[in-house]
Amino acid sequence: MSSRIFSAANIGLNSHLIEVEADVSAGLPNFLIVGLPDAAVSEAKERVRSAIKNADLLFPRTKTTVNLAPADLKKIGPSFDLPIAVAILTTRKQIKLTEADQRALFIGELSLDGSLRPVNGILSIAESMAKQGLKRIYLPQENATEAGLINNLEIFPVNNLRQLVEHLNGHEQINKLQPQPLPPFLPTEPRILLSQIKGQEQVKRALIIAAAGYHNLLMSGPPGSGKTLLAKALTGLLPPLSLEEALEVSKIYSLSGLLPKNQPLLYARPFRSPHHTASGIALVGGGAFPKPGEITLAHRGILFLDELPEFPRQVLESLRQPLEDGLVTISRTATTVQFPAKFTLIATANPCPCGFLTDADRQCTCSLGQIRNYQKKLSGPLLDRIDLHVEVPRLKTEELLANISESTGNQEILIKIQTAQKIQIARLGERGLFYNSEMDHRLTEQFCRLDEAGQQLIKQALVKYQLSARGYYKILKISRTIADLEASETIKLQHLAEALQYRQNILSTE
Ligand SMILES: Nc1ncnc2c1ncn2[C@@H]1O[C@H](COP(=O)(O)OP(=O)(O)OP(=O)(O)O)[C@@H](O)[C@H]1O
Ligand SMILES: [Mg+2]
Repeated sequence: MSSRIFSAANIGLNSHLIEVEADVSAGLPNFLIVGLPDAAVSEAKERVRSAIKNADLLFPRTKTTVNLAPADLKKIGPSFDLPIAVAILTTRKQIKLTEADQRALFIGELSLDGSLRPVNGILSIAESMAKQGLKRIYLPQENATEAGLINNLEIFPVNNLRQLVEHLNGHEQINKLQPQPLPPFLPTEPRILLSQIKGQEQVKRALIIAAAGYHNLLMSGPPGSGKTLLAKALTGLLPPLSLEEALEVSKIYSLSGLLPKNQPLLYARPFRSPHHTASGIALVGGGAFPKPGEITLAHRGILFLDELPEFPRQVLESLRQPLEDGLVTISRTATTVQFPAKFTLIATANPCPCGFLTDADRQCTCSLGQIRNYQKKLSGPLLDRIDLHVEVPRLKTEELLANISESTGNQEILIKIQTAQKIQIARLGERGLFYNSEMDHRLTEQFCRLDEAGQQLIKQALVKYQLSARGYYKILKISRTIADLEASETIKLQHLAEALQYRQNILSTE
């Protein structure tokens, strides 16, 4: 006697339909799961056996074989417990599936007492189900609101195996999840506001430009000048994610098991700040079954790397490809997975080990060799990918003793940034892009035209600073964002001149 039901597996953010087949035949008691199961799937045996017994149902006392097909697809995690149990119970007609339920998807981890535990990655599964025209899904209660974000699905939240069996046999109905309105965005008060930071007006301006067009930014300066503080204030300048972006980001967090309970849709723009001791895999993603790293968790948000030169050089170099392409490709023997990684890099650095190389009043105590070694950690190609380079000088005495100015309200700045972003989305939306930093060189040429004077200025800059092609386009894109902040359709000379200021490599000792 055999049966077949459906489940799904995630490979990266893509979901694949899995057929769970069970066969119960005469022979010595034996329970086998085949079809490339990982350790968690093999452990499913013990969980499924106990859950079936504890739900007052019969586990076959003969030879039981479960096959997860297609066999060449790696199956990860415990989400196959429920479909395995249902498939086994269907063979001996302890469950009689209706036609609609034969085409339903079953997902969930079982605990030994038969209750269902939530699993990761439901949002991508629900989304790809809807795309493939599948309708019905049985899943753990705690995952239901997450799946409910996707329209046109019949979602049945299940508490335990016994309850599901009663429902499938038509005895006691489980209520379908009713369509829910999308959860609202609840803004939280940022911990530090820009106006509470003294002085550093040029850096604040650079932060606003970075936030408006999602440009990468490097702040360099002596210790204690406020670099970390300024970066943290950026959280208060980030408009919430659009619905489209929120779904993208929530899928990633769902896969990583990081979605907060009862909050299936993340609107707050990610702000990730991994420590410099983080491994390459933690930062970029990977593992035998590739998992998203910090750069993917920072997708559509900020990756804040404090003390950039302290990160191992190899780890920093691995950021080069994602910074360019907005995605990361992880190849393993079993699979190749791509994760989105459109993040904005905000980094801080001291100019040398003692930190006072660029300080006008304090003597730097580092030797030339030490300075070279320190700066060598940041390779040219990495620095070239950073759009805005700003110096954060030590505060002057009068700036430090001044009262905190509350003049520029955070809300006003946020509105200005949001307005600039709306202009960008209106311009780029039909090409599937949102922000200026996402433009490729063709779009940059198209939307960042300079007048005669502008062309003259950039020509001089190209010669003076020996700019790379990337540097050239980055300057144009920053000028575009500066113009958008003023709602100016054309890029004026002052916009370009300001953009050029941020491109001088302040880490260079030459
Ligand atoms: N511009 C500022 N306005 C108000 N407080 C400041 C300012 N700059 C620094 N501070 C104070 O000094 C502390 C240290 O600043 P912060 O950690 O940002 O320095 P940093 O530039 O990151 O130094 P380091 O290079 O050592 O990491 C802050 O927590 C804050 O209390
Ligand atoms: Mg710091």
